[in-house]
Amino acid sequence: MSMAVSAAWGMAKDRACALSLRLVRSPDRSYGEVMVVSNGTGQRSRALRSSVLLHAVMAVSGLIMVLFLLAHMYGNLKIFEGRQAFDGYSEYLREVGEPLLPRTGVLWIIRVVLLISVLVHIYAAFTLWHRSRAATAGAGGWRYETTKNRRGVQRSYASFTMRWGGVVVGLFVIYHLLHLSADYVAPGGASSSPYQRMVNGFSIWWVVLSYVIALIALGFHLRHGVWSAFASLGGNSSVARRRGLNQLATVVALLILVGFLIPPLVIFAGWVR
Ligand code: HEM
Repeated sequence: MSMAVSAAWGMAKDRACALSLRLVRSPDRSYGEVMVVSNGTGQRSRALRSSVLLHAVMAVSGLIMVLFLLAHMYGNLKIFEGRQAFDGYSEYLREVGEPLLPRTGVLWIIRVVLLISVLVHIYAAFTLWHRSRAATAGAGGWRYETTKNRRGVQRSYASFTMRWGGVVVGLFVIYHLLHLSADYVAPGGASSSPYQRMVNGFSIWWVVLSYVIALIALGFHLRHGVWSAFASLGGNSSVARRRGLNQLATVVALLILVGFLIPPLVIFAGWVR
């Protein structure tokens, strides 16, 4: 049961508020999601509308980050063109927009948009989670009785990958910025060349392993996140569209996962040095 539904149910159950519920399937097929339409009025229905708004905010901020990831992944593949091309591309990102904008102007615009996206994404996720807890008296969202695990209660695959996957990706981004962007944490040696920073870092097994783990967490997060984002924006309106959304989410998650995995793995294998 999604957080929004838990919140909606909590709001609706103690008042005469007409709800129409529609059962749909999430991409992992592990739980049902319910689309809720309320014709209630007053404070509680306003809270419900704001939950819908928060889902939309999460969707749009998430999709902005996906666009950045696709561009970043594509840029990383320039390592196959050699050091000069890669470092030249990094330099281009700082020069682009001159003289209309100051040096690094475009880069800073991208950074600010990304930072706002990250902050509102986390704020919306936390607020929806908090509402879900409050609506279920601290028990969290609904969990189905099942014989599948020892506790007899099915942990929602989606809530697990979104919540804990999100935490892992957040921690990874901090580590990654200190490593490859700021050159502050420099396993294998610091360098003013971004290309060399990658070669130095990805020659060490535990650096590669930490990136692989974080990227797999990112892949799972994106698999559900992309589906969820388009569903929140109204894309899950028929069986055919649902199938299309499932395929799109899988393709985007796999593309980003494989694309990002290539640089650390080819460097570690010694194919790029
Ligand atoms: C193996 C995968 C990745 C590699 C090899 C990689 C590589 C790099 C490099 C070399 C830089 C520094 C670029 C420069 O200084 O010009 C950088 C910056 C950055 N990366 Fe990654 N990256 C990877 C994955 C990711 C992921 C998954 C995210 C986000 C979830 C991410 C977010 C960023 C951000 C936000 C910056 C800072 C851009 C800036 O403001 O200068 N990267 N990355």
